[in-house]
Amino acid sequence: MEINRRDFIRQLGYIGGAGLLATAPWLSAFSDSKTTAGERARIGVVGTGSRGLHLLDYMMQNPKVQVVALCDTYAPNLELARAKAPEARPYTDYRKLLENKAVDAVVIATPPLMHSPVTLDAFAAGKHVFVEKAIALEMDETLTMYQAYQRSGKVFFVGQQRFFDPRYIAAMALIHSGEFGAIQSLRLNWDRNTDWRRPVPEPALERQINWRLYRDSSKGLMTELACHQLQIGTWALRSIPDKVMGVGSLVARAHEREVYDNVSCIYTFGNGVKMTYESTNSNKFYGLEERILCEKGTVEPERGKYYYEDIAPAPGILQLLNDIENSLFESIPIAGSSWVPETAGANDGHWLLAKKNEGDGTRELLQAYAEAVITGRQPENFAEESYYGTQLCLLGHQAMEEEQVLVFPDQYKLNYLNHAIL
Ligand SMILES: NC(=O)c1ccc[n+]([C@@H]2O[C@H](COP(=O)([O-])OP(=O)(O)OC[C@H]3O[C@@H](n4cnc5c(N)ncnc54)[C@H](O)[C@@H]3O)[C@@H](O)[C@H]2O)c1
Repeated sequence: MEINRRDFIRQLGYIGGAGLLATAPWLSAFSDSKTTAGERARIGVVGTGSRGLHLLDYMMQNPKVQVVALCDTYAPNLELARAKAPEARPYTDYRKLLENKAVDAVVIATPPLMHSPVTLDAFAAGKHVFVEKAIALEMDETLTMYQAYQRSGKVFFVGQQRFFDPRYIAAMALIHSGEFGAIQSLRLNWDRNTDWRRPVPEPALERQINWRLYRDSSKGLMTELACHQLQIGTWALRSIPDKVMGVGSLVARAHEREVYDNVSCIYTFGNGVKMTYESTNSNKFYGLEERILCEKGTVEPERGKYYYEDIAPAPGILQLLNDIENSLFESIPIAGSSWVPETAGANDGHWLLAKKNEGDGTRELLQAYAEAVITGRQPENFAEESYYGTQLCLLGHQAMEEEQVLVFPDQYKLNYLNHAIL
């Protein structure tokens, strides 16, 4: 189950290592040598609900991780985690877990309202931090957490697994190589048909368990889904959008939740490129995808495919039929003489990876975290890219709330190494 940098790069096949590290510098977290062989990251998990248990499964399979502590305030979830990691010490108060000297690092998978207090206390206690997305529910809080990381000298990871998903890395490496020319537009969508509601054993626990549905504990689709996709634009374009406008509404689920079930935002970059984000909780037909439209091609990382604009001309028989059709209906300018199909359906495209990858990058992300905890080295740009993922979803949410075009505020901009983001 262990991954090293060479294996990771090998699965990307045709893309050279140097290009990959320029596109995804955080891959440097994977050990290239035997320096961390035999060492283990001693991790405490805070929040062992649905996501925390999923992360725990991966960590229990990783020989470089020792899960030494678990914490949850909800007994049934703590018990589920204890069944998976019986040797870990259980806690119901995360501050007590942070006092445990055997804990080098934490993985925080509480609801987002608790991300900030646990993260700040963990850095203060000298622990490395992995926190789930969205980093926080407010832009100020997100910046405060990033600044605490900078002061701490510790490692800071965020649950933005697409940064470690081989499909996305291959897509970005090809885009950055100039293979498709300049990016023209990004269309992001995430459509599900789900009420997000979880069963509640007693009414008093409603807001605790169904925190996603309420405005004081969630920004709905923006903090739950958009942060994963908005990072695609900053990663691909190596810059952040200048502005955002948006509209949010409750279309189908007004009777059962407070947060929007239908959101649309337009982010604009300085060079005129637009990134649209659309998401709904009441129709799942189009699912999840990012379409990156470039001058000479289109990339769909989630589907794992790319498409050149200029596809091979249609076979002779189709050309002939088309010519006949044109001469029959010549008064209707349906096509020119160099007819090629104009619909996406006619272009099968190419696979980004030679071999289908299992998973969505979460396993690789956690392995990179374990390596970084052992070496104490923060991989370049990962915290910053993740930071913008959260800030952009929060700014989009604010634009919808205020029904205004909002400029990305200067006080939240970071000036970081490889990327000329000012
Ligand atoms: N990266 C991803 O793809 C992904 C997927 C799902 C969820 N998430 C994120 O993971 C986080 C958790 O989501 P979830 O679906 O697991 O929620 P959940 O409600 O299932 O689990 C959260 C757990 O945290 C516990 N908790 C709350 N306050 C606590 C505290 N003070 N101390 C210790 N434990 C506490 C709760 O009791 C619960 O068991 C959210 O931020 C969510 O956005 C990320």
